[in-house]
Amino acid sequence: MAKTILVSGGAGFIGSHVTVELTQAGYNVVIADNFSNCDRTNYNGVCTILGKKLPLVEMDFCDMEAVRSLWKEYKPDAVIHFAAFKAVGESVEDPLKYYRNNLESFLNILQITREKSCNVLFSSSATVYGEPEKSPVTEQSPRQSATSPYGNTKQMCEDFLRDCVKAYEGVRGIALRYFNPIGAHPSALIGELPRGVPNNLVPYITQTAIGKRECLSIFGNDYPTEDGTCLRDYIDIVDLARAHVCAVARMLDGKMKEPYEIFNVGTGRPVSVLELVKAFEKVNGLKLNYRFAPRRSGDVVAIWADPARANEELGWKATRTVEQTLAAAWAWEKKLSE
Ligand code: WQD
Repeated sequence: MAKTILVSGGAGFIGSHVTVELTQAGYNVVIADNFSNCDRTNYNGVCTILGKKLPLVEMDFCDMEAVRSLWKEYKPDAVIHFAAFKAVGESVEDPLKYYRNNLESFLNILQITREKSCNVLFSSSATVYGEPEKSPVTEQSPRQSATSPYGNTKQMCEDFLRDCVKAYEGVRGIALRYFNPIGAHPSALIGELPRGVPNNLVPYITQTAIGKRECLSIFGNDYPTEDGTCLRDYIDIVDLARAHVCAVARMLDGKMKEPYEIFNVGTGRPVSVLELVKAFEKVNGLKLNYRFAPRRSGDVVAIWADPARANEELGWKATRTVEQTLAAAWAWEKKLSE
């Protein structure tokens, strides 16, 4: 019988893409979301792509009673936890908002997981590595102390999961550390929907190209890199989503080597901000209005993944080129303005 996967935050950017890939791989998916940071666009897009209406529970994971009734009704075999606040700057301004929401919701998930002996996949981030001494970073590279409350919640949730897996029989966990997820589904029916002025690079680029923003500021061109701009590992959102399918299969098919495992999810390929801008211009045949601006505080100079562990153990590999991903991001932005 098909296994049931609960996707918390399943109406968001990453959650919606993961829902599509899991369903196409034969899993039953239940989406739970409180719509605090998104509307129904991606949920509707998911249903259109899949040609069916997926179960959707509107709820808050900070509400333990709601969590219990969710488990009672759907009895998930595994949960993938995306439901969290994710704006780095906002977390610095209002740390309690982040600690209350991101920690409480995950503690509730761990509580029910303990009671029901469930599998947990936690969406972590390369932010846990801080400014690494060298890249590529492996899962063994040291974590640095977090530079924002948001980053701190990612580190704490990883630790909560590690400790619970160690202490409680029947609980298994995987943390996936994402590098920089970008792009959109090739159907252009789901994608990133930032509220207000985007913080992240690619939505800022696409909004500038479409005319919603006047000019992209490239934060810093005097970094010690070849072209002076920061280096990141941009991972296609559909590739990233597929890594979750591999991780879920590994958990549910009893293939884990340790009850708690961590995997980097990246391409292993560093790309500078300027290279990304130029690739966007080239693949989409347009000119982007950009200028160089001062460095943004808190930015690390360079970080990219060593994805060998995910390649070997999960049987997963990034497949899309940055050009393909940027074409998908642009198709999505155009679709939004139709
Ligand atoms: C990438 C590069 C900027 C905007 C953040 C979080 C991380 C993760 C993903 C999410 C940097 C430059 C950006 C702009 C620019 N988590 N840039 N002009 O900072 O690597 O990672 O998002 O939920 O935890 O920290 O991603 O896309 O903001 O920036 O020049 O207008 O683009 O300086 O070098 P980042 P980003």
